[in-house]
Amino acid sequence: MNTFHTLRWTANAIELLDQRWLPDRCEYLRCDNAEAVAQAIRDLVVRGAPAIGCAAAYGVALAALRLQTAAAPQFADGMHRACTLLAKSRPTAVNLGWALQRMREHVDRTAALGGPERAASLLALAHRISAEDVDINRRLGACGAELLPQTACVMTHCNAGALATAGHGTALGVIRSAIEAGKSVEVIANETRPFLQGARLTAWELRQDGIAVTLIADSAAGYLMGRRRIDAVIVGADRVAANGDVANKIGTYMMAVLAQRHGIPFYVACPLSTLDMALADGTGIPIEERGAAEVAGYRDVRWAPEEVRIANPVFDITPAELVSALITEKGVIHKPDQAALESLLAG
Ligand code: MRU
Repeated sequence: MNTFHTLRWTANAIELLDQRWLPDRCEYLRCDNAEAVAQAIRDLVVRGAPAIGCAAAYGVALAALRLQTAAAPQFADGMHRACTLLAKSRPTAVNLGWALQRMREHVDRTAALGGPERAASLLALAHRISAEDVDINRRLGACGAELLPQTACVMTHCNAGALATAGHGTALGVIRSAIEAGKSVEVIANETRPFLQGARLTAWELRQDGIAVTLIADSAAGYLMGRRRIDAVIVGADRVAANGDVANKIGTYMMAVLAQRHGIPFYVACPLSTLDMALADGTGIPIEERGAAEVAGYRDVRWAPEEVRIANPVFDITPAELVSALITEKGVIHKPDQAALESLLAG
């Protein structure tokens, strides 16, 4: 259904839909080297856990293309530098490290190939990671769609849509799949201060598809949960620890507490690549802290006094006990815990 591409490959470059300017401008930023991709991830040109992973994979492929005539030691050195730089671009979404690990393993597997064949093979893997992401989102979307009634009102936080993935989306993928299955779904989008992913991105993306959406200030969520029928809150995730604790956009935890207070199911939609079984619980998840300017104002407008101290943690942790179900491409886990996650991965 999408009228845009979050990432698109053109001759020897990856073009990223520049999400800093949506919905005012729909422009693509061309990146033809790993450094440019890392900078684009840092600057939120491309954002959302799965999309960051896809972009990083293309970053590695671009480094390989640039090194295709280099001798083996220079190639190895350049690939190591590209992977290290990309890995540092954002800390919270585990999909970034997951995609880089796949690319690193492929670098090792293709050691016997000549430079051009090796670069082509790495680019093919980057394409595959993106294609698989769309397929995964469609499968998790179909699983999640079954949780919604025939006519549903769904609240979402941040943007876990096509703009946050290679296509279809996770939380918004569930909504798209439900609509494709003949259900009638309307969405309440929280604006998602401070970067306004809900107001700028979710509202724009749903409007592109003609999906009914009402934008609210984050602070209106509790009031509306008490006033009107909301069938589910569905969000995405940047990392899920082994016990089911969920890191997602700042404000997600508030929404989960409110949903429990109002008896509304709180669903987290994410691919299995978002699970980090190496972390026992959410306390070990690195939480990104971004610049003060995002809270002090927006773009060129500043509303906070110059001298005020500002904190800007951009993700929070929702304890597993507040998560009604995890929606993945392998099925839905109700009341997620370590045993349930382990058996899902083993199955
Ligand atoms: O800072 P962002 O915009 O990258 O944060 C994005 C989110 O928190 C999303 O909900 C998450 O990455 C899941 S995207 C399918």
